[in-house]
Amino acid sequence: MIQIQHNFNLKAFNTFGIDIQASEYIACHIIDDIMEALKHLSHRQKSYLILGGGSNILFSKAFDGIVIHPLLNKIKVVKESSEHIWVEVEAGAVWDDFVAYCVDKDWYGIENLSYIPGNIGASPVQNIGAYGVEVKDCIEDVKGIYIDKVESFQFSNKDCQFGYRQSIFKSELKNKVIITSVVFRLSKVQSFKLDYGSVKAELEKKGELTLHNVRNAIIDIRKSKLPEPEELGNAGSFFKNPVISKDAFNILLKEYNEVPNYPVNNNMIKVPAGWLIDQAGWKGKSMGNAAVHTKQALVLVNQGNAKGSEVISLANAIIDDIKSKFNIVIEPEVNIL
Ligand code: FAD
Ligand code: EPU
Repeated sequence: MIQIQHNFNLKAFNTFGIDIQASEYIACHIIDDIMEALKHLSHRQKSYLILGGGSNILFSKAFDGIVIHPLLNKIKVVKESSEHIWVEVEAGAVWDDFVAYCVDKDWYGIENLSYIPGNIGASPVQNIGAYGVEVKDCIEDVKGIYIDKVESFQFSNKDCQFGYRQSIFKSELKNKVIITSVVFRLSKVQSFKLDYGSVKAELEKKGELTLHNVRNAIIDIRKSKLPEPEELGNAGSFFKNPVISKDAFNILLKEYNEVPNYPVNNNMIKVPAGWLIDQAGWKGKSMGNAAVHTKQALVLVNQGNAKGSEVISLANAIIDDIKSKFNIVIEPEVNIL
């Protein structure tokens, strides 16, 4: 049986640490709770938010609506072959707890995604990625419920239309479904992806090539650049890395011959927004209580009691400046509400 909490403070439920309230909040511990919450929603005709760990959300103001918080968190093996294992994990399980679990079991595939905050249910939404791996590489199916019809669905990997920080859940089905579980396909056979940035160098410091050492190397790299939300509110990369045409890239290259870049295909190239923002001199700069992180210019931080609107003003000033300096339009990765 669900409990509806009114004027619920969400400060501890968003990693930016924005101090706002939601009109109603419903924690869902089992599927029946979700069904009951959806029934309540259909009677109330209010806006709603499906909340995970709140690590990719920026609240611009109080949330005048109903927050539904799936907290179901069971893990079960659903299939196994000599080479692979399929594991179904419920939406409310903490992402990094699951990564640690897989590393302990010697299951390969998601170790490079260690230490990303948030819950399982959000992992397919923006197709989380880091250090050369995207979660789509290990997703078999995504299960959930359409909010309007209260009907369940099961999508294959292909149905999810995954792309860089993109999926059907962030486009066509944005805010229309509740993901209730994700089925991952992990490898029982050793396979590593170590080519991104400083991963190999960090791993060498750890010694042997093992799953635990890869996880620890990734965690150490992340800790050296990214602020801990408990210490400095943030939502990771605030912007997506822009993907630009080869022609636009060649123009950029003429002026900045050391611009880091990642070819996407024969015509398009991804350029790190953090590098652009850094070059434009924003690192460490602040506006009101919002600031650009001193160690990673792609991360905006809450220096204390920042309002969502202060973070948005800073983000807009950066967008305008990058457009005027480089003729590149950068877009937020974070969901702004
Ligand atoms: P929330 O922020 O709660 O929600 C995000 C979106 O998903 C919202 O639109 C929400 O409505 C929707 N959603 C959440 N749960 C469900 C559900 N069950 N059903 C339907 N919709 C749902 N991301 C990366 O990709 N790579 C990184 O390396 C990375 N590093 C980060 C580092 C830090 C320090 C921080 C704070 C964030 C980082 N992120 C990174 C961003 C963030 O951790 C991920 O996007 C994460 O998947 C968000 O999960 P969440 O549970 O917190 O989602
Ligand atoms: N760079 C700078 N200055 C900066 C930041 C970056 O010059 O202030 C340069 C770096 O030197 C490097 C390049 O930009 O050459 C890329 O930097 P980094 O490896 O730190 O990665 P990123 O592109 O800034 C992306 C993801 C991160 C993910 C890392 C590691 C996006 C939007 N961000 O960041 O994801 O952890 O790669 O794979 O794609 C997130 O999504 O929240 C997130 C943290």
